[in-house]
Amino acid sequence: MKKIIIAIDGHSATGKSSTAKVVASRLGYLYLDSGAMYRATTLYFLKHGVSLAHKADVLRALEEIHISFEPTAQGNTATFLNGKNVEEEIRSMEVSNYVSAVSALKEVRQAMVAQQRALGKQKGIVMDGRDIGSVVFPHAELKIFMTASARVRALRRQKELQEKGQSVSFEEILANVQERDHQDSTRSESPLLKVEDAIEIDNSELSFNKQVEKILQLALAKING
Ligand code: DC
Repeated sequence: MKKIIIAIDGHSATGKSSTAKVVASRLGYLYLDSGAMYRATTLYFLKHGVSLAHKADVLRALEEIHISFEPTAQGNTATFLNGKNVEEEIRSMEVSNYVSAVSALKEVRQAMVAQQRALGKQKGIVMDGRDIGSVVFPHAELKIFMTASARVRALRRQKELQEKGQSVSFEEILANVQERDHQDSTRSESPLLKVEDAIEIDNSELSFNKQVEKILQLALAKING
């Protein structure tokens, strides 16, 4: 059967990753979380005190960073940074607050995009992020742009954090969501934008299952078409 690339871009906390994961598993495709790669890089920078103002330090650090996605004993796939499972750590508020600044750097983006393209060589993948349909895979057969209101997204993220035992105020999360929208959309390097051939899905009032079904239908039409 023909294999395609599915690019899912959109605002933070729109459920891109959960959606992409299910779509990939239903199609027997590989799922790749490009945001996790920026988060893992951010974690490394924080841990090693890499200054974003010093390009030589940034470039040296990027050479030391090896990110992979590996199956865990629990049957999930987790993000590994230099051989260590960092899946939990990269979702902390500390990383969330700093990741937009790190991902705005041209050097960081070039390194990540090269790795992402290599991972997509075989097709049969679903990748989610901000610039997948615009920069990483401009020829992706299916491009989705996901959005939802900032309040709905902040509520979802708060619930997620609560389930992990982290209590963060709604106001703090909403401010983080809005700040990231602003930074992601206004940065000069690969800003978040909806490309012309992307299909927009606003899921403020759309259930998770309906959203998955909608994307699967679109994907199957491309695969069989
Ligand atoms: O999808 P996420 O919230 O885990 O992504 C974390 C950050 O990484 C987000 O604030 C923007 C950045 N990012 C990016 O610039 N390009 C991507 N392809 C994916 C994420």
